[in-house]
Amino acid sequence: MIPNSRLYLVFPTYRLTFPTPASRLSSLPFNGPRNEETDQHSMVQMPSSSLDHLSEKELAAKLDPELLPKHVAVIMDGNGRWAELRGLPRIAGHREGINSVREMIKLSLELGIQALTIYAFSQENWNRPTQEISALMALLEHYLSTERASLIEQCVRFRTIGRLELLPPSAQHWVRTTEKETAHLDRMVLTVALSYGGRAEIVDAVRGLLNDVRAGTIQPECVDEAMIQQYLYTYPLPDPDLLIRTSGETRVSNFLLWQLAYTELCFTPTLWPDFRRREFLLALHEYQKRERRFGRILSTVSL
Ligand code: FPP
Repeated sequence: MIPNSRLYLVFPTYRLTFPTPASRLSSLPFNGPRNEETDQHSMVQMPSSSLDHLSEKELAAKLDPELLPKHVAVIMDGNGRWAELRGLPRIAGHREGINSVREMIKLSLELGIQALTIYAFSQENWNRPTQEISALMALLEHYLSTERASLIEQCVRFRTIGRLELLPPSAQHWVRTTEKETAHLDRMVLTVALSYGGRAEIVDAVRGLLNDVRAGTIQPECVDEAMIQQYLYTYPLPDPDLLIRTSGETRVSNFLLWQLAYTELCFTPTLWPDFRRREFLLALHEYQKRERRFGRILSTVSL
């Protein structure tokens, strides 16, 4: 029996134990970092499908290289719950989440995925307690200062999208330094959304466009979708082919609102710190099952 048919429909390869009330989650017997024993008590179970018995190596080998997404976007959700389940402070979940980011970058490079865009801090996240915001900013600075060399070694270009001017000056410094030092790299683009909101991005695009109309460099009648795209923070990246959101939430939460128009959406109950190589491979298999029609009819059946 599938306890949550909505999620099952969206990500049918998963056997779910959702929803688990928050009060029950916090009373589960977690007390310490990730290990096999505590993972058994996790509120989600591993995928149950024809791919279940395959090793990570086999899962990777079974992917069709022609049908891989070029651009994957990720809403990394569930860090707080992951920590809470283990009786740890929320920041421990964010810290563990960085290891998932590292694994995603590594696998993307191995598979030849050209762009990864991750939602690290939304505009709405400014409403969190000051202590958590400071801890997240410190984590971002630590990540950039220690990981910069590895990004360069892997030929990963680092970019950010969002209202960066709202970040503390030291975080802005590390962001700008990393962007500058990786600007020439082209094996993969890692875009980190920071102080980002999809609607704010559209507002900023409209403002930029209006400025150019006022300056006379653009005629209003020339404005079309392709032109608006050029004013978005993400330009010149192509739109994401696949969006993954972890932790069982099935929303886009103000992420890449314009760019997600034809993106395939994959929702998984796995919490972000548990979303590792195997989960990413399964999401890619799920993506390869989708028929991307972009509003067209692909069937040859006559009307
Ligand atoms: C959502 O989980 C996650 C975030 C708000 C932050 C994500 C940040 C990281 C993984 C680390 C920073 C990344 C880089 C690249 C430096 P949540 O806190 O909303 O979890 P919850 O829904 O369980 O409370």
